[in-house]
Amino acid sequence: MKHNDPVVSTRETEYWSSFRSPWDPRGWSRRIWIIAVTAIIVVVAVVVGAVVGTTARNSGNSYPDYSKLNYTLIDTYSGTSFFDKFDYFHDYDPAGGFIHYVDPDYARTYNLTNATQTTAIVKVDTTVGPGSEPDASTGRFSVRLESKAQYGPGLFLFDVKHTPYGCGTWPALWLTDPNNWPTNGEIDIMEAVNQALNGNLVALHTTDGCTMSDVRREMSGTAGQEDCHNATNSNTGCTVTGAPATYGPEFNAAGGGIVALEWRNEGIRSWIFPRNGQNGLTALPASTGPAPDPSTWGPPLADFPSTSCDLGSHFRNQSIIVNIDLCGYFTEAVWASSGCPSNCTDLVANNPSAFTNAYWEFGAFQVYRALQG
Ligand SMILES: *[C@@H]1O[C@H](CO)[C@@H](O)[C@H](O)[C@H]1NC(C)=O
Ligand SMILES: *[C@@H]1O[C@H](CO)[C@@H](O)[C@H](O)[C@H]1NC(C)=O
Ligand SMILES: *[C@@H]1O[C@H](CO)[C@@H](O)[C@H](O)[C@H]1NC(C)=O
Ligand SMILES: *[C@@H]1O[C@H](CO)[C@@H](O)[C@H](O)[C@H]1NC(C)=O
Ligand SMILES: *[C@@H]1O[C@H](CO)[C@@H](O)[C@H](O)[C@H]1NC(C)=O
Ligand SMILES: *[C@@H]1O[C@H](CO)[C@@H](O)[C@H](O)[C@H]1NC(C)=O
Repeated sequence: MKHNDPVVSTRETEYWSSFRSPWDPRGWSRRIWIIAVTAIIVVVAVVVGAVVGTTARNSGNSYPDYSKLNYTLIDTYSGTSFFDKFDYFHDYDPAGGFIHYVDPDYARTYNLTNATQTTAIVKVDTTVGPGSEPDASTGRFSVRLESKAQYGPGLFLFDVKHTPYGCGTWPALWLTDPNNWPTNGEIDIMEAVNQALNGNLVALHTTDGCTMSDVRREMSGTAGQEDCHNATNSNTGCTVTGAPATYGPEFNAAGGGIVALEWRNEGIRSWIFPRNGQNGLTALPASTGPAPDPSTWGPPLADFPSTSCDLGSHFRNQSIIVNIDLCGYFTEAVWASSGCPSNCTDLVANNPSAFTNAYWEFGAFQVYRALQG
């Protein structure tokens, strides 16, 4: 019955008015009082139970089914053709760094990208300084690579032999759709600033409506902000930080490792497996062969379940991005607390030797897609 049906309303009014007295408590007998009070207690108990139950479900019980998918290799970046699958971004830095991202010719001239059969190196220039022509007074030469291919959900394995670090640096290995940000999402797999002593930062950046708060997660890393929306706190994103050995000098000393990202409808998870299983972190899993199976890998460093985030509408068409930014808001915000000298632009312009550790060294990248069962 619709409430705006005048015939029904009139009839209901007449019906209830003929029984007016039963709703007046002053006329109630002891028996009716007992029934009424019991009814109220039951209603309160049911409502409280439902609220408590919902909270428990959100924070505790509900968790995606991350059971095994059948992954098959669809793309490999390796050997001397490693860089052929990337575009060299060489416009103004969208992140506001003190940098000139170079094109392939400049990269060759300054030897900023170099691929052999076994290794691909991406580095910041360490040659120009005051008196050079050109110099670094308007920013230092560096590289930002964007894969030509764009990917949907899958498993991404990165063999990382050396992570860049040093005062003034802001390196990252990440996924995004450069032309549709933040609509198609951003997944930061490795990121750090300056001396990189505080562990690897993993983060998602999205449009509104994707959160990790009050959501059950299973991971070894430490959750930071839980709202992934880019407009919250100046695009902090939803973050997870790993142990110090997951990035920088400690990670490099262990020979680097395999960095894995699994992006599937149920959630986004990442692992870092140091090559030699040192520093108390899990050793490289055996199953990084032809059919890797993350369901056997144990707890990830970061877990972003789909519980309160519809991943299908927030993440699409992701390119692989590798870059080393210099300065920029993130780096400069923690400059003093990182124990770095002078100020960032002074260091970058005038001290080329400060960037000798500012390089990525990679083995292969592999991209897998789940076969439909
Ligand atoms: C270019 O860079 C690679 C990798 O860092 C290095 O091995 C090589 O010696 C460099 N070549 C020159 C000419 O500087
Ligand atoms: C790349 O590195 C190799 C050795 O690592 C070096 O022999 C070669 O000169 C480098 N390429 C360039 C363009 O400098
Ligand atoms: C967040 O994304 C919106 C577009 O959806 C953009 O207008 C806004 O500037 C972004 N904010 C930040 C802090 O990145
Ligand atoms: C993803 O990329 C494909 C191919 O370029 C394009 O047709 C599609 O519109 C893109 N989807 C979104 C949501 O951006
Ligand atoms: C950075 O340091 C240099 C050298 O000390 C100084 O000349 C410059 O004014 C400083 N810049 C800022 C923004 O503090
Ligand atoms: C994976 O492959 C096995 C063997 O063919 C099959 O039994 C299983 O259902 C597949 N799983 C999925 C999720 O497709």
